[in-house]
Amino acid sequence: MGNKGGLQGVVVADITSSLVDGENGRLIYEGYEIQDLAQNALFEEVVYLLWYKRLPNRAELEAFTKLLAENATVPQGVIDLMKNLPKDANPMAVLRTATSALAHYDPDSEELSNKEIVLQKAVRVTGQMTSICAAWDRIRKGQEPIAPRTDLNLSQNFVYMLNGKDPDPAIAQAFNVYMVLLAEHGMNASTFTARVVTATGGDYHSAVVAAIGALKGPSHGGANAEAMHQFVEIGEVENVENWFQTNIKNGDRRIMGIGHRIYKALDPRAQILRDHAEKLAEASGNMKWFLIADNLAKLARADEYFIERKLYPNVDYYSAIVLYTLGLDIDMFTPLFAISRIAGWTANIIDQMGGRLIRPDANYIGPMGLKWVPVDQR
Ligand code: ACO
Repeated sequence: MGNKGGLQGVVVADITSSLVDGENGRLIYEGYEIQDLAQNALFEEVVYLLWYKRLPNRAELEAFTKLLAENATVPQGVIDLMKNLPKDANPMAVLRTATSALAHYDPDSEELSNKEIVLQKAVRVTGQMTSICAAWDRIRKGQEPIAPRTDLNLSQNFVYMLNGKDPDPAIAQAFNVYMVLLAEHGMNASTFTARVVTATGGDYHSAVVAAIGALKGPSHGGANAEAMHQFVEIGEVENVENWFQTNIKNGDRRIMGIGHRIYKALDPRAQILRDHAEKLAEASGNMKWFLIADNLAKLARADEYFIERKLYPNVDYYSAIVLYTLGLDIDMFTPLFAISRIAGWTANIIDQMGGRLIRPDANYIGPMGLKWVPVDQR
């Protein structure tokens, strides 16, 4: 093979939506440093930035925020479908099914080439995916889903639709920061998947559904839930060292939430989320999960194996602590990642529309010259 496998180092597109500078631990969306955006931006501002390649002015932002909220209602047919799914279904699988079903109710689902119409679809799907996630968390607990409010932005609406109460500003703001940080990230696996589907001339919903499928995997978006399961398994701060020795040094497991294909320095999102995780833990009066994660990261950072391979915590590591402290069920972590990354998927889908079919080659290493043997003689 001419590369290290996994298409590492292969450039598949020119993009402006984000720069992932793995050597220096920098992330930029459309020219803006991620630290600047995490500190200042509303998720809606980032969505607008990624889709229209510039920040909105106040009037545009207010109109866009309202538009997303007004379009976030999930068709009753999709809610009914969700109510008929097994209550123990994986929420990412439910999001995949329900997002696919949205296409049947979308007036423009088969529109393939008009970017303005595709962006209108994207407005609907972005809001609807947020509502689907919150609705599923209620449906599976035997509660009625709550419709989105048009006076709230998406992170506020997510919190509101989970429990029906006016969203606590600090909690909604923490979700907003998380969503800003996760909105876009270069040619990651789910974005590439969305581009592959789009390049076949496939429709927007199909591209998003395929991307959800890619994000679900534990090597990608599924890692935030896996990271939290691992912290829960460790259980107590004093168990960290023993767990590390048994499972990582003397076992064959990986630390979930550590390592990244591109970052060979600290993922800047991990640093921001570490600070948020620490503050949220302090505010909640329970430092245990933060300390388990932080002590495990310190052990790894001091270990020759991790140093040599430049393995640092990635975005999923501390986001697990943030989302757990905010009270989200662990299996809802990856859906929350999806309702943020729809922003970046859409920017890439729009860029890819009309582009050439993505069709790589494979190197045949199988046998040659075999002759057909009738089934009874094999
Ligand atoms: N713990 C222990 N060792 C690790 C870890 C880890 N978390 N991650 C990588 N390594 C080791 C590998 O064993 C390998 O060692 P070797 O060279 O001796 O064989 C080396 O580091 C390189 O690992 P690869 O798997 O080749 O790196 P790749 O770029 O293919 O994978 C990945 C990156 C999948 C993220 C990997 O680091 C991993 O599995 N991490 C844990 C899962 C995770 O956190 N995923 C989230 C990624 S970020 C995101 O998608 C949002």
